[in-house]
Amino acid sequence: MMDSLSNWIEERLPVMNAYKKHLSGYPMPKNCNFWYLFGSLAMFVLVSQLLTGIWLTMSYNPSAEGAFASIEYIMRDVEYGWLLRYMHSTGASAFFVVTYLHMFRSLIYGSYQKPRELLWIFGMLIFLALMAEAFMGYLLPWGQMSYWGAQVIISLFGAIPVIGDDLTLWIRGDYVLSGVTLNRFFALHVIALPIVILLLVVLHILALHEVGSNNPDGIETKLPKGSKTEDYKTEFSFHSYYTKKYDIIDSVPFHPYGTVKDLIGVVCFSILFAYVIFFNPEMGGYFLESPNFEVANLLKTPEHIAPVWYFTPFYAILRAVPDKLSGVLLMGLSIVFLFLLPWLDRCKKRSYRYRSMCHQVNIIQFIISFCALGILGTLRVTTSYTLLAQIFSFGYFMFFVLLLFYSKNEVTKLLPERVHYK
Ligand code: HEM
Repeated sequence: MMDSLSNWIEERLPVMNAYKKHLSGYPMPKNCNFWYLFGSLAMFVLVSQLLTGIWLTMSYNPSAEGAFASIEYIMRDVEYGWLLRYMHSTGASAFFVVTYLHMFRSLIYGSYQKPRELLWIFGMLIFLALMAEAFMGYLLPWGQMSYWGAQVIISLFGAIPVIGDDLTLWIRGDYVLSGVTLNRFFALHVIALPIVILLLVVLHILALHEVGSNNPDGIETKLPKGSKTEDYKTEFSFHSYYTKKYDIIDSVPFHPYGTVKDLIGVVCFSILFAYVIFFNPEMGGYFLESPNFEVANLLKTPEHIAPVWYFTPFYAILRAVPDKLSGVLLMGLSIVFLFLLPWLDRCKKRSYRYRSMCHQVNIIQFIISFCALGILGTLRVTTSYTLLAQIFSFGYFMFFVLLLFYSKNEVTKLLPERVHYK
């Protein structure tokens, strides 16, 4: 009876077919290593953020008069409210930790290169949407840093010639940042942006499954003997793995190999995540800044306004330039260059393993520059810090410029015939 019911459903809505194609039977390169855990971890954090967010919304009050007090109420009076709130605030930082590591993996293994350009673009769009989501979420507790941080960022739009002032007015919905702004940020944070992010994640995964996963060797994985690409995508199963095709394939079915591997990642991540939530939810002021434990005050600017750590590399680029408009343009350009990465890198080999020393050094200097900018963005402005920010911003942009020039005629190593698997 169960069989005929599932057949009946399958003929009308091929769920099992989709499950096999996109999950259990998805051919995962067998050499995918530690760095391949972060995509599934990003999904795990996304689900956690959605669930904790829904429950927080049940007790949150999106008004200038009530927002701060409602957060205090959640923390003190709502059953396990403190846990929900810390899961959500730590989750925001965790989301950026896993996303940055996920992007780093794509960078070192050249996963953005042809044919995965669109996959990369969807990833970058997710990254932008995530930044907007985090920025709007940070205003909601209506603390001092929520208020003044948002004030600084919104005022950046004022630097745009001609339309700048009207644009800031339009974003705020008021002459100053007020309850009206809080209300619209709330709507965007809980409804609009989560829908956009979910949609983009679906497109990201569909684009990935169309072209297949890259791997640490950056070579195309071989198909089982005699199979066509299409057969492989739909018919590859746990069973075929154990047939005589075993020794000629580079990929393994996602279930159970990927699921078990990702599950270990989720368990290890959850232990670290729980440690931060229970013992260090403010993370020394990096996850929750201390001025945010004071209610927003329009008449009192905090001594030092700094965005949360995940924005600081870009914030440091902005501050490296004394002129506001040029700073905003340079910050925008730092994101545009990331979008263009698939076209700036013209090398035929993907993974850093088989690329030139020049490329390896360039990646290292890029990571150092990015992290240094991240640290500088949290500090107060001084002449020497501004100089350092200028040097590291130069390093950040040089990564892309140099890549464009050397990648065409790079001296690379010979690629292996098959993926390396120890
Ligand atoms: C909500 C955020 C994101 C989620 C849930 C997500 C999810 C995933 C998953 C599940 C995979 C396959 C497993 C893996 O390779 O780790 C993947 C692959 C990939 N993602 Fe993401 N991703 C996100 C954000 C991003 C961002 C921000 C970028 C880059 C801008 C990006 C670029 C890529 C690339 C290039 C691949 C293919 C990697 C390869 O095959 O080597 N993703 N993503």
